[in-house]
Amino acid sequence: MLILAIESSCDDTAAAVLEAETKNVLSSVVSSQNDIHARFGGIVPELASRCHIEMIWPVVNQALTDAGVQLDEIELICATQGPGLVGSLLVGFTFAKSLALVRGIPCVGVDHMAGHLLSCMLEQEKPTFPFTALIVSGGNTSLFSVDSPVSYTRLGRTRDDAAGEAFDKVAKLLDLGYPGGPVVSQYAVKGDATAIAFPRAWLGKDSLDFSFSGLKTSVMNYVNQRRQKGLDLDINDICASFQEAVVDVLIKKTITAAKKYNHQRIVLGGGVASNMQLRDKMQQTCKRAGIDFFVPRPVYCTDNAAMIGLAGYYHFQNGSMVNPDDDAYSRSPLN
Ligand code: KG4
Repeated sequence: MLILAIESSCDDTAAAVLEAETKNVLSSVVSSQNDIHARFGGIVPELASRCHIEMIWPVVNQALTDAGVQLDEIELICATQGPGLVGSLLVGFTFAKSLALVRGIPCVGVDHMAGHLLSCMLEQEKPTFPFTALIVSGGNTSLFSVDSPVSYTRLGRTRDDAAGEAFDKVAKLLDLGYPGGPVVSQYAVKGDATAIAFPRAWLGKDSLDFSFSGLKTSVMNYVNQRRQKGLDLDINDICASFQEAVVDVLIKKTITAAKKYNHQRIVLGGGVASNMQLRDKMQQTCKRAGIDFFVPRPVYCTDNAAMIGLAGYYHFQNGSMVNPDDDAYSRSPLN
């Protein structure tokens, strides 16, 4: 069975073609809007939806061409139904429902979080169930117990900012551009992670929740105080110390969750999972703890449609299908 998958939850228009039984990704196309939003220092929702409208058909067409597949060979369409920016979601989700209706084939609405939770299954080395998953992106920072391809329980989540959001805000404060994660991590490589003692929010010994707003404020206060005193800012050290504070908390809480739920496997997903410091340190920590660690290639960490196709197929096998009048949603029931 050939699947066409569509993702448009935020600022990337993405489409992919997958071979369902083998889980083979035949093509995966992502059209980024970073250049459009960069000059505003963050995503402008109205611009994002307009760009999706312009790009949805060219991106779908490109995915079909790259896969060498005709539209009439597609037997299932999967599209992100939520969570995300409703204007953005509506473009991809309505396109998918309409195409499925016209072609007389089934359509599955996929939760974006389910895509991230299963993205590691797109790789050769797949985890078996159950596992602990940390999903860490621009909109989410949550821990899950994943018991099967269609059954997930949230164990903890951020009480304020998502980790990616904190990276983006620190980058904006330092005038480093948007998105902040990749550029902050590049500066961090050249810095001393112990130079500035930024705070870590543990929220109680056993808490599996996160909080990054205090850390963000602490970086802001540090930068503003030095600017007021006319002192130099060592961007490398600030980025390295900030990144270390984020990574420390993400790793410690993920390991605590895996131990608490007796999971032998940890999975990482979401845009921040492409951070090399997080990947390397999590790998080392898991090794010491005797836990197997799985993380997809960076292209499957950031938003993509291949993960939506895979998650959609599992849910289709489980009986899930959308009706033409089903709506997109901005908040995930999983979160
Ligand atoms: O999953 P994603 O593509 O979009 C959603 O938020 O759903 O994640 C984007 C987020 C942004 O906040 C971006 O700054 C962050 O992931 N990010 C990173 C890195 N690459 C992307 N954060 C830290 N280090 C990175 N290398």
